[in-house]
Amino acid sequence: MALTEKVSISLKKEAGKSYDIVVGEKLFPLIAKDLAEKPLGSSYVLLTDSNLKKLYAKPLMDELKAKGIEVNLVVYQAGEINKTRATKAMIEDKMFGWGLGRDSALIALGGGVCGDMGGFIAATYMRGIPVVQVATSTVAQTDSSVGGKTAIDVPAGKNLIGCFHQPSKVYIDVATLESLSERDYSSGLVELVKHGMIADKEFLDFFIHNQDLIMARKGEGYADLMIKLFAWNNRIKAKVVESDETEKGMRKVLNYGHTLAHSIEKLMNFKLTHGECVSIGIVANARLGLKLGFNSKEESDLQEDVLKKMGLPVRIPKELEPKAIVAKANLDKKARQKQAEYVLLETIGKVKDFGGNYATKISAETVEKVLTELKE
Ligand code: GLY
Repeated sequence: MALTEKVSISLKKEAGKSYDIVVGEKLFPLIAKDLAEKPLGSSYVLLTDSNLKKLYAKPLMDELKAKGIEVNLVVYQAGEINKTRATKAMIEDKMFGWGLGRDSALIALGGGVCGDMGGFIAATYMRGIPVVQVATSTVAQTDSSVGGKTAIDVPAGKNLIGCFHQPSKVYIDVATLESLSERDYSSGLVELVKHGMIADKEFLDFFIHNQDLIMARKGEGYADLMIKLFAWNNRIKAKVVESDETEKGMRKVLNYGHTLAHSIEKLMNFKLTHGECVSIGIVANARLGLKLGFNSKEESDLQEDVLKKMGLPVRIPKELEPKAIVAKANLDKKARQKQAEYVLLETIGKVKDFGGNYATKISAETVEKVLTELKE
């Protein structure tokens, strides 16, 4: 039996809310036990997608019902393409149909899409009900289930409508990783590797040291290793979120590699996963750090090597023009005065502080030069 770890996150300053992130294997009986002993609502809605319905929602429903917990299941069609206003409305209308009031709670069982949309529904349903995140993908387990960012996509862009709504509890069950494709598995781990690069060199070294077993996805000690890895990862993320819950300053460090990643993602019409674009974005930022004289070649190469070994892309797709990538970045929602800002490293494990701002503007010419060097 694998170990179970608990990470606590305390958000005293703004939401005044603390919660636990439980990391373990085969956690469904524990989830039911916890909710029976410490209910978050008088009844629950379990939200999941069409791929996970049979695989995980049914077993979790059975565990919850066996504990006498009242729960209704709502399923939406899987895929980011369905993280929309229409799907949100469909789910809310089902909840109204079941007569769920302010004393209900939502369980989001799935990956990033489910957690983002479920969190947003919980944030606004009857002016806010609790949400429990049961994360089943590497994206959700390493990043999106923790920290309270919620959103849906609209024709104008990804995650443009949303708010901060912290979960009441997060469960990270490494047994659910089994159903992920190789591509999604690696893509989601990018955020974890990023946490090492920006905040904890020892953590990145631990990942590199165990990279073969992590990427093999099976073998002796695999589950315990992943539990240790995800608990450590979420301790890093929790610390950043605790210091800046609503991304006014420090939390920007989590956007390392994301400025260019968002442009590439859009210009490629979402043919690459978010994680694949972040991988390319990290390599570009590492090269920018090198070009601007902040980092050594070894530091830049180390980042590129670890991502390459994960099977992730580290070059700009040949169909993209550097000029277009930079122009798109300047239009991003996180740009200031129509100029993108880039998070850079002081060294591996530490971001560069630009006078109290953890990101800096860089001339289009310099960024384009680096992107040209990185063309496939
Ligand atoms: N995914 C970055 C953050 O939670 O701020």
